[in-house]
Amino acid sequence: MNKKISNICCIGAGYVGGPTMAVIAHKCRNINVTVVDINEQRIREWNSENLENLPVYEPGLNEIVQDRRGKNLFFSTDIAEAIHKSEMIFISVNTPTKTYGIGKGMAADLKFVELCARTIGDEANGDKIVVEKSTLPVRTAESIRTILKSAGSKYEFEILSNPEFLAEGTAVADLYNPDRVLIGGDNTDAGKQAVDSLVNIYATWVPRERIITTNVWSSELSKLTANAFLAQRISSINAVSALCEKTGANVDEVASAIGADSRIGKKFLKSSVGFGGSCFQKDILNMVYLCRYFGIPEVADYWEQIIKLNDYQKSRFSRQIINSLFNTVSGKKISFLGWAFKKDTNDTRESPAIYVACDLLTDRAEIHIYDPKVRAEQISKDVKYLLEQRGFGKTETDELAALLHVYTEPYPAMDKAHAVAVLTEWDEFCTYDWKKIYENMKKPAFVFDGRNILDRDYLEKTGFNVKCVGG
Ligand code: UDX
Ligand code: ADP
Repeated sequence: MNKKISNICCIGAGYVGGPTMAVIAHKCRNINVTVVDINEQRIREWNSENLENLPVYEPGLNEIVQDRRGKNLFFSTDIAEAIHKSEMIFISVNTPTKTYGIGKGMAADLKFVELCARTIGDEANGDKIVVEKSTLPVRTAESIRTILKSAGSKYEFEILSNPEFLAEGTAVADLYNPDRVLIGGDNTDAGKQAVDSLVNIYATWVPRERIITTNVWSSELSKLTANAFLAQRISSINAVSALCEKTGANVDEVASAIGADSRIGKKFLKSSVGFGGSCFQKDILNMVYLCRYFGIPEVADYWEQIIKLNDYQKSRFSRQIINSLFNTVSGKKISFLGWAFKKDTNDTRESPAIYVACDLLTDRAEIHIYDPKVRAEQISKDVKYLLEQRGFGKTETDELAALLHVYTEPYPAMDKAHAVAVLTEWDEFCTYDWKKIYENMKKPAFVFDGRNILDRDYLEKTGFNVKCVGG
């Protein structure tokens, strides 16, 4: 199946599918790329005239969508047609943690992936290369293959694993200049040819030596392992932050001292209120589930501790706010700067802000939020979902959610506040007039810097009580 690929279809127009396909279309002008989704509103937003309305915010994305859309980049809800005309189909749908049944709270929910495989099996009108892009448990390719085979199709399917390593907020830059591209395929002639077809696409702009090919299972497991290692670094430094707070050491100084060791390296050592995002927690839970399934509980416990530490870090931050505000936040105005799980994205999945907000709402605080990119509906949805997960009934959830106030400007969000908490590291927060903010706040005025981005000395000189993560 070493085909020259002229048409690509990507099922799933989300944070992975959208930017990845936009970059492929931008780099490979001879390939038509169609991104399809069952969510009509999402597709409408991808097609909207006003580029500010694209459903995914990523620096540099608007420009490439504007450049390629309608030329060789298309967004559509017609999944069948896109499958018909494509030689290669990427599956880029969401794989959230299961919220029901066997593996609840641990295993990845593969219902969306399975549905895609069935649709491809039903609609295929020729041989197809199917590429797993979503993060999936090891051996999912096997399930996709079984479903495709049992669809009774007379055509051949090659299944490749091509995990995404882009980080949100830098997705376009990561896609343009990846550390590596990983492609897993079968060690058969047809498998190798399919791998070559995909290698040739990436080789248009990625140096060959950065394109790694492996068997399918190694590729699947590498994705989980990469995220587990990255998250482990953050939980490690966050564990040290708790110790710093007790001992008077400064976690940023410790991070910089250990990062100078080239074996450790300085990246990904920023202590924070905790990690968020759609990948880390989900992938580690997935890994834990696999280990338990395969009868290696010691290994499962090892990885699970990363999640436990992250939960501890988030709740420690909430407790610090409550303790500092004289053990009660009831009726107090607490301003949140940031809601996204990191800067330069509008994605809020697993954002620490949601957890801290729910902790404080439970103590009846009033939360006033400003985030440059997140919409008010999303914030309310996030909070209601977590409160319901925590066992609150509908009426109480609605009552607590009514204590949320979302702003489109930062200063009104902090006016007459008792405390400001920084939950996302947006650059603009460092440029604010903190003297003016202090004057308009209730005294004593507190700042809880959950990202350690503000100038602590300056804030303290201004009069603030400042708490950073890790001393
Ligand atoms: C991650 C992986 O980096 C990426 O390779 C994979 O494809 C998807 O998962 P992403 O979740 O988009 O990417 O962002 P990332 O930059 O990894 O940040 C994840 C979380 O960790 C964020 O909440 C971030 O604020 C936090 N973080 C990151 C820290 O708290 N400290 C750090 O030093 C780095
Ligand atoms: P990710 O971060 O993995 O890209 P998102 O939730 O942002 O996750 O995007 C996944 C997209 O996949 C969503 O827009 C969702 O509507 C879409 N999707 C899920 N199942 C299907 C399906 N069977 N067919 C088409 N699109 C799907």
